[in-house]
Amino acid sequence: MIDETFEQIQDLPCNRLDSLAKSLVGFQTHYERIYKYLLLTLSPDDLRRWSRKHYGKVLPICGLIAQKYPLFIFSGDVGTGKTVTAQCLADQLTRNLKKEGFLLQLSTRVRGSGLHGQMSQLIQNAFQELMKQAGKKRLAFLLIDEADAIASLRSTEQMHQEEKAAVNTLIQKLDEVRQSDGRAIIFLCTNRAKVIDQAIYRRSALHVVFERPSQEECFELLTRDLEGTGLSAGELLELASLISANGHHGKLGYTFSDIRLRLLPEALVSVFPYEPLTFDVLRQTAMSTKPSPEIRSWQVLITKRLFWRNWNEKLNLVDTLVPESKIKINLVSE
Ligand SMILES: Nc1ncnc2c1ncn2[C@@H]1O[C@H](COP(=O)(O)OP(=O)(O)OP(=O)(O)O)[C@@H](O)[C@H]1O
Ligand SMILES: [Mg+2]
Repeated sequence: MIDETFEQIQDLPCNRLDSLAKSLVGFQTHYERIYKYLLLTLSPDDLRRWSRKHYGKVLPICGLIAQKYPLFIFSGDVGTGKTVTAQCLADQLTRNLKKEGFLLQLSTRVRGSGLHGQMSQLIQNAFQELMKQAGKKRLAFLLIDEADAIASLRSTEQMHQEEKAAVNTLIQKLDEVRQSDGRAIIFLCTNRAKVIDQAIYRRSALHVVFERPSQEECFELLTRDLEGTGLSAGELLELASLISANGHHGKLGYTFSDIRLRLLPEALVSVFPYEPLTFDVLRQTAMSTKPSPEIRSWQVLITKRLFWRNWNEKLNLVDTLVPESKIKINLVSE
């Protein structure tokens, strides 16, 4: 059951995630923002202690916090860092609280063939395992990635019965998880917050919107990733301004993954093995590599519709629907 339900199961703390967190621009800011919410969700006793210390009794406001669900929604364009941030947060939190933890990663992108009840069953299995792990006095994290496929609006006319059932199951399971006395945390990642069902949205402790990096963040990332290549600060700044919003490619800047997984590898491939990596090569590559396009709601809809079909069918259908567009293919196959 476990193998079929999860794309990845990770014991925490994990050294790989620790190093990854150190390589992420802006991670600390995300961490500090989310940390207190996580703490309050994980340790309601601490909140009551705080209240007694400062007011001599448990204030009603503590009850309001207790009504929050241990659910964090991360939304943003493709490649803005939702998945890696969720993974690294789980790791850092486990470290800072000096506990052991368990990260269960449910991927809806490649799961499910539309058989009746399959998606609901998948969610049930995931939460069953989550509660089992949380019950062992460890922190248990469930990462529901690409959640558009299961958490979207139930009111949509065309919504498949199976998807409606999945949303209902998810809501019911979120309600149950609150009984876990604060040791289970759920991260839900989506490209479009707008398609998330309101009932799920309302239950979240926090919604974090992930943006494409600013010029300063591009500069910071390039400085880190191009360390040792001998580029000057001025050259790095010029590259950062080329690839960020209102740079060479217009309004839309690069995503983090455009920089790390496209620009830098492509520049490297073009000089390897005979030449060193120069500013001119990087500049040229930056000018010829376009940023990933923004995801629009209709693309999410197509992804959702394609979700239940098998792989070849997906690609054929995308081709038929929007022959000139590679975006959808990236969306479903990336
Ligand atoms: N804050 C960051 N600093 C540096 N690199 C980052 C950051 N966020 C993401 N990246 C890089 O971008 C890549 C993609 O990140 P991630 O998979 O988390 O994006 P995502 O938002 O989950 O995208 P998708 O919507 O496609 O699932 C990662 O491999 C990582 O190296
Ligand atoms: Mg992701």
